Amino acid sequence: MSQPTIESILQEKRLFPPSEAFAKAAHVNSLEAYKQLYEKAKLDPQKFWAELAETELDWFEKWHTVLDWQPPFAKWFDGGKINITYNCLDRHLLTWRRNKAALIWEGEPGDSRTLTYAQLHREVCQFANALKQLDVQKGDRVGIYMPMIPEAAIAMLACARIGATHSVVFGGFSAEALRDRLKDGQAKLVITSDGGWRKDAIVPLKDQVDKALADGAVPSVKDVLVVKRTNQEITMQPSRDHWWHELQPGMSAHCPPEPMDSEDMLFILYTSGSTGKPKGVVHTTAGYNLYTHITTKWIFDLKDTDVYWCTADVGWITGHSYIVYGPLSNGATTLMYEGAPRASNPGCIWDVIQKYGVNVFYTAPTAIRTFIKMGEHLPMSRDLSSLRLLGTVGEPINPEAWMWYQRVIGGGNCPIVDTWWQTETGGVMITPLPGAVPTKPGSATLPFPGIIPDVVDLDGTPAADNEGGYLVIKHPWPGMMRTVFGDPDRFRKSYWEHIPPQDGKYVYFAGDGARRDEDGYFWIMGRVDDVINVAGHRLGTMEIESALVSHPSVAEAAVVGRPDEVKGEDVFAFVILEGAQEPSEALAKALKQHVVNEIGAIARPSEIRFAEALPKTRSGKIMRRLLRTIAAGQEITSDTSTLEDRSILDKLREGV
Ligand code: PRX
Repeated sequence: MSQPTIESILQEKRLFPPSEAFAKAAHVNSLEAYKQLYEKAKLDPQKFWAELAETELDWFEKWHTVLDWQPPFAKWFDGGKINITYNCLDRHLLTWRRNKAALIWEGEPGDSRTLTYAQLHREVCQFANALKQLDVQKGDRVGIYMPMIPEAAIAMLACARIGATHSVVFGGFSAEALRDRLKDGQAKLVITSDGGWRKDAIVPLKDQVDKALADGAVPSVKDVLVVKRTNQEITMQPSRDHWWHELQPGMSAHCPPEPMDSEDMLFILYTSGSTGKPKGVVHTTAGYNLYTHITTKWIFDLKDTDVYWCTADVGWITGHSYIVYGPLSNGATTLMYEGAPRASNPGCIWDVIQKYGVNVFYTAPTAIRTFIKMGEHLPMSRDLSSLRLLGTVGEPINPEAWMWYQRVIGGGNCPIVDTWWQTETGGVMITPLPGAVPTKPGSATLPFPGIIPDVVDLDGTPAADNEGGYLVIKHPWPGMMRTVFGDPDRFRKSYWEHIPPQDGKYVYFAGDGARRDEDGYFWIMGRVDDVINVAGHRLGTMEIESALVSHPSVAEAAVVGRPDEVKGEDVFAFVILEGAQEPSEALAKALKQHVVNEIGAIARPSEIRFAEALPKTRSGKIMRRLLRTIAAGQEITSDTSTLEDRSILDKLREGV
C-alpha cells in the first residue's frame, strides 16, 4: 500500500453556500438541520435507521432486530419481509404517481420511450413471468449483459420481483470477462440483447455471450433471453436462446412480489481489487433498499416534478443505485440515455437535457473534463435553464473542472454534490446535502447522516487535521456490502484487516487516501492500493498484468496508472518479453488488443514499454512507486536504496 500524499488542493479555500431559494425548498434545508440529523444518527444509529425504515419503506412484515453485527458480518432488519420492487413500483400505483413517468429513455439513434409507473410495473411483471417460465427460481443467479435500454432496468427489477439474484456485467466487458463472472456466480440464465448502440456503431452483445458460453464453458447457464434492439443478424441456438418479443405476448401482467427476507441476496456486482480476480460484491435486500432510497432523496433533493438524470451505465453500481433502485423507490422520474458524445453529435448530452427539461444531473469528473475539452459552445448553444442541481461521482474532481461545471453547466446557480462512495458501500457516503452544506470545489465535504468516517494511519490512529491518511468507516450502515460471493474470507481480508480494530471495534478500510480539513471536510486523494481509476472505471493492475502475461510472448508485466488530463489516469504497462521475442510496434499493438479481448476496451493500455527487467526490492517485490514515476515522465527523487540494481531505471526510461 502506498502512503497518501497531500496534493495541491490543500490551497483550495473557496466556499459556496446554497442559495436561499434552494435551501428553503430542500428536504434538508440548513446546516443546522444537517447537524441535528447527523448528531441524532451518531447518538443512536439503530434508532435513526429504524425510524427511516418505518417511515420510508413498505414492509410485508416488520423486522425483529435492527442490526445484528458480528464483525465483519452485518444483518440489518433481520426478521423483516420486503420486496424492493414493491417499494419501487407497486406502492406508487396506489397513488397519483400511477401515471407519472417512471422511466424516460432516449436511444442513441434518437428513438425514445417513456414508461409510466403503471407501464413499468406491467413490463416487469411480464418479464418476471418469463423468467419463471424459464425455470428461474428464488435464489438463482441471473446474468444481465445489456445495453442502456429500458429492458436492462426491467430485467433487474424482474429478477428482484421473483427473488432471483442479478449479476449485471457492464456491456463494455469482453466475452472472457463475462465468462469469468457468469462462472463465478454460477448463473442459470443470461439476459442480453442482439446489440447496443455505442458511438454510431453496434456493440454485438449476443455474439459476446455466444463466445462466453462456447463449448459449455459455463455449464450452469441453461437459457439465454434476448431482447431485440439493433436488428442485426445473430445466431439463435434453438434449445438455449429465446427472443423476449416472442415470449412477451404470452406473459401475464400479474406477478405478485416474492416476500424476501431482509438479508436475502438482491444482487452481485463484480469489482476490481488489488489482488486476484474481480470480487463479487454482495448486496442484500432491505438495507440496500433503505440506503439507496434515503440517499437519493436527501442528496438529489428529489421533487415530484423533477426529471432526474444519472449518466452512468447500469453495469456499474452507480447505475444500480442511482438510475434504478434509489430513484424508483422514491417515485421519481429517472432518465436513461443509451448514447455518449460522439463525432456525429458531440453536444448530445445537452440536447437530452434541453429536450426533457432535466432538473438534476449526475455525472463523472472524467465526463466533465471531456466536455471542457470539446468546448463550451456546445452547452452554451442549448437551453440548460431547467437544471437546478448537479452531481459528480467516481473519482476526485479537480477544482478547475468543478468551477467550470458550476459556471457553464449550472449557470452559476446550481449546487454541486461531489459524492464519494464505492461499489462496496451500496450508496453515497460522503457528500454535501445540497440545501444544507456549503461546498468547496474538490471536496466531497461531510458524511451522510449515520456514516462515521475517519482518516487514520495503519495503526488506526486518527490523523491530525489536514494530514493525509487512510479513509475508514467506523460503524456499519444499511447499504454496506455483506460479503464477497462465495468467499467470506476474502471479504474479511480485503476490508476489515488492514487496520486493527479500535477498542475492539472493527473499521471498514475503503482503499482510498484522504485528509480532513479544519472544518471537518473530507478531501479524497485516490486509491492507496493497486487499483487504478481510468475514466471513472475501476481496474485492478493485477488483472491487467495477468491478461498480459497470458499472452505467449510475455514473460512478466507490471501495470501502473499514469496521470491523464481527461481520464484521470490511463493504463501504462511495462512488459518483459519471453526469451527470443523482439520488441516491435506490431507486438505492442497485439498486446493492447489482447488486453481488450481478455478484459474489455476500458483496460486497453495506452502505452506498452518493453523492458529488460523491472525494479525490484531485494525481497523480489516490484517497486511500483518507481514505475509510476517513470510512467509519468518524472525524475526519481525518492529513495531507491532498497532497489537491487539501479541501472534498471535508466533502461526503463528509454525502453528497449
Ligand atoms: O477511489 C474512489 C473513487 O472510486 C472508487 C470506487 O469505485 P467504484 O467501486 O467503481 O464506484 C464508483 C462509483 C461509486 C473509490 O474507492 N471515487 C468514487 N467517488 C469519488 C471517488 N474519489 C473521489 N471523489 C469521489 N466523489
